[in-house]
Amino acid sequence: MALVNEARIALNRIGVISGRQQLRSLATGKYLAQQVETVEIKEPQIKTFQIYRWNPDNAGEKPYMQTYEVNLRECGPMVLDALIKIKNEVDPTLTFRRSCREGICGSCAMNIGGTNTLACISKIDTNLSKPLKVYPLPHMYVVRDLVPDLNNFYEQYRSIQPWLQRKNEVAESKGKAQYLQSVEDRSKLDGLYECILCACCSTSCPSYWWNGDKYLGPAVLMQAYRWIIDSRDENTTERLSKLKDPFSVYRCHTIMNCTRTCPKNLNPGRAIAEIKKLLSGMASKPAPKLDTAALHK
Ligand code: SF4
Ligand code: SF4
Ligand code: FES
Repeated sequence: MALVNEARIALNRIGVISGRQQLRSLATGKYLAQQVETVEIKEPQIKTFQIYRWNPDNAGEKPYMQTYEVNLRECGPMVLDALIKIKNEVDPTLTFRRSCREGICGSCAMNIGGTNTLACISKIDTNLSKPLKVYPLPHMYVVRDLVPDLNNFYEQYRSIQPWLQRKNEVAESKGKAQYLQSVEDRSKLDGLYECILCACCSTSCPSYWWNGDKYLGPAVLMQAYRWIIDSRDENTTERLSKLKDPFSVYRCHTIMNCTRTCPKNLNPGRAIAEIKKLLSGMASKPAPKLDTAALHK
């Protein structure tokens, strides 16, 4: 398999179109030379990237856009592939966050072509006549280049106490037995627990732009709702009362930028609407379908 991978990389590097048939025969152990008979050299596909740069160590320097050219024939298909290629081969000072490169960690959130999204699951637009503009997440303080300062975001996340809370934790010897949850109650967490806290939604929300110090924003509110609606959590009243002020929730004006931009196709706008229903008394949290503490008795 290592031979196949090496051959695939070699073929790509020299601009070879290697069909499935050729790779299949490589897998059966034939030599690379046999495949090169069908070589077809292709023109480089040069894509222009315009990337936001700012380095706080360069006193007095203002942010600027830097242009890089990348041959898409020598690059993976995603924007993160291009950023890594630029950093590795052209400019090691280019700074950005990334970790999983598969849409799970949320680190590579940035504004790509005008949309907040994850660089690792965002395909490079192959229209070569159009430069691709990449900025950090909007309306956040910038640490450097494409790295936003997420301290306020994480403080807000901390403020909603994102963990299971029970009234009688000591008597229940938490951690020694499960809390029961019916299938129906568990399904209420679908569409909430998948959030990777990438902050794409919050930083696309005009209300969060203007009131980010007091309005919690869609990502944090969706996580607040995830714990409020969890049938095993017993601190619902306290959780809701902490949100009952003019700013924490009610700065949401249902513009729905958040839901439109979420790279995981979640719906924070709906979660906020559900919190508003609970706060206004239009809805109430249903009682759990199972005795959640049954195994602790
Ligand atoms: S709701 Fe979506 S956009 Fe918002 S933080 Fe979670 S995964 Fe990111
Ligand atoms: S629905 Fe609310 S949270 Fe979402 S973008 Fe609009 S104002 Fe912001
Ligand atoms: S690198 Fe983890 S989500 Fe993109």
